[in-house]
Amino acid sequence: MTTVLKTEDLRKQFGELTAVDDVSIEIDDGAITSIIGPNGAGKTTFYNLLTGVLQPTAGSIWLRSGDDAAGGDGLRDVTDAEPHEVAQAGLSRSYQITNIFEGLTVRENVRVARISHEKTRLDFRSRATGDEAVEADIEELLELTGLTHIADTSCDTLSHGEKRTVEIALALAIEPNVFLMDEPTAGMNPTEVTEIVSLIRELDADLDATFVVTEHNMDVVTDISDRIVVLAEGAILADGTPEDVLTDERVTEAYLGSDSV
Ligand SMILES: Nc1ncnc2c1ncn2[C@@H]1O[C@H](COP(=O)(O)OP(=O)(O)O)[C@@H](O)[C@H]1O
Ligand SMILES: [Mg+2]
Repeated sequence: MTTVLKTEDLRKQFGELTAVDDVSIEIDDGAITSIIGPNGAGKTTFYNLLTGVLQPTAGSIWLRSGDDAAGGDGLRDVTDAEPHEVAQAGLSRSYQITNIFEGLTVRENVRVARISHEKTRLDFRSRATGDEAVEADIEELLELTGLTHIADTSCDTLSHGEKRTVEIALALAIEPNVFLMDEPTAGMNPTEVTEIVSLIRELDADLDATFVVTEHNMDVVTDISDRIVVLAEGAILADGTPEDVLTDERVTEAYLGSDSV
């Protein structure tokens, strides 16, 4: 297995509060990792550090990248990188907060994301990619995410679940190596949850991207995870297979008194 994302002693303080407390983690390709923990455990802050939205107080972040910026181990230090640099380096995130253009159709939204990615790609090979190849990529992305049948629908008329799926398509438009999902089932009804779970499984099987998911629905976590990392008060409390982690007493205790996992 190959490490695609690594943090070393990653830390974020908000004044006196330590939201992320010296987290060292290695994410390997070919597995779905879930990051779980009670409300306020630091999951979203951890994602914000990884994506360059927040600057860490201490520690470092490394991403696999095939380019010259990578060291001998193939990992590139992105600790100080801006969000767009992190995205170019291959880390993508689907947002809980929508970044869809409501007035555009599904296909138009995917096209905007795909073309803006195409423009920011720096390697010579991809600059040679023509319009036809981009259009083919867009259709493939719509197909992969099951959006082809609503490709011409204006996004302002979509259901919540459909919009979340469009967000996934937009995040995938940058061809990520690592795909972070922050609570992909938030606000979804049971039917939508079932659909998004099978979509995540299919994408994981069809794409080279490595999936990292935060999720509070424990049925979903149990269903999709190869590995579960539990955060509590900013630090890693447990890390292992679903069988090991979900029967760990420390994990059960961390959730006592919490209305949400
Ligand atoms: N911008 C911020 N300023 C101050 N405190 C913050 C900020 N963002 C998050 N926090 C605090 O950091 C802790 C972790 O929050 P968060 O990462 O959102 O947890 P989770 O996503 O696991 O629910 C919480 O105590 C939260 O109140
Ligand atoms: Mg959160």
